[in-house]
Amino acid sequence: MTFPINRPRRMRRTDTLRRMVRETRLSPDDLIHPLFVCPGRDVVKPVESMPGVAQLSVDRALAEAREIHAAGVPAIVLFGIPSTKDATGSQAWNDRGEVQRAIAEIKEHVPGLVVITDVCLCEYTDHGHCGVIAGGEVDNDATLELLAREALSHVRAGADMVAPSDMMDGRVGAIRSALDEEGYSHIPIMAYAAKFASAFYGPFREAAESTPQFGDRRSYQMDPANGDEAMREIALDLDEGADLVMVKPAMPYLDLIYRAKLEFNCPLAAYNVSGEYAMIRAAGLNGWIEEERAVMEVLTGIKRAGADLILTYFAKNAARRLNR
Ligand code: PBG
Repeated sequence: MTFPINRPRRMRRTDTLRRMVRETRLSPDDLIHPLFVCPGRDVVKPVESMPGVAQLSVDRALAEAREIHAAGVPAIVLFGIPSTKDATGSQAWNDRGEVQRAIAEIKEHVPGLVVITDVCLCEYTDHGHCGVIAGGEVDNDATLELLAREALSHVRAGADMVAPSDMMDGRVGAIRSALDEEGYSHIPIMAYAAKFASAFYGPFREAAESTPQFGDRRSYQMDPANGDEAMREIALDLDEGADLVMVKPAMPYLDLIYRAKLEFNCPLAAYNVSGEYAMIRAAGLNGWIEEERAVMEVLTGIKRAGADLILTYFAKNAARRLNR
């Protein structure tokens, strides 16, 4: 069964033949577009390390949501940048907060777009950690109730789904029971289940103004070396009631996307994070790579590895390209 009988090139000869044997097809339906919502009106504040991405006031976020929906992307995920921060991140559950108002506006005017919210305290705390601090450390159990309050506030505002990204133990269960108690048992949870302490979140922290003011996130986000532990985290979140689970970042963790799909056979998302976006954009803007092709190759690779959904800042543009 070798050459010259076998010639794999036969099926690569023309574009049509290649199309016929293509195994992985990226679709706009696979994509979720993240947006950063900030205070004010008519504000578009570019994020320097993420060319093409900006913090948007509620009115501008609505306009962007319309474009994302028109491009065929089914969902967005919202991050909030509050006007004030404090030790507990109390603006996170302000029913008149930026995210809550954005949800209401978008659901009113673009009802077909699924609105997911990131549930975390790091954008809302003055110390920049994802939970409350006790004795110089992030206090897991004290944080759970606050995350549940934040999730409830988002859902009351009309969010279709909540996505806890804090990496506290037990938060999926805490959010699930808080939602169920208030009559929201139909609202799904997408858990940032295997979230690694990654250098690739750097640009996001500029975008979300959420850099920790002391220490780092390694006591709650995962060690990049650990694959078995990632599977355990996913299993725990599924047990607690997660409807979708996520591996994050995507590109350095494709093996874990693959493993998770094989082991759990459940809806799986991967987050193509800010640093991955920044690298590709920087190389593209410098003319060092063909950016459009690189983006499609990366997103196809993440899907081929096993992700059903990809959160990516390229979503709107990639969807437009797929529609051409
Ligand atoms: C909040 C959060 C982060 C990201 C998503 N939710 C940052 C972090 O954990 O520091 C990263 C997204 C990205 O880099 O694109 N906890």
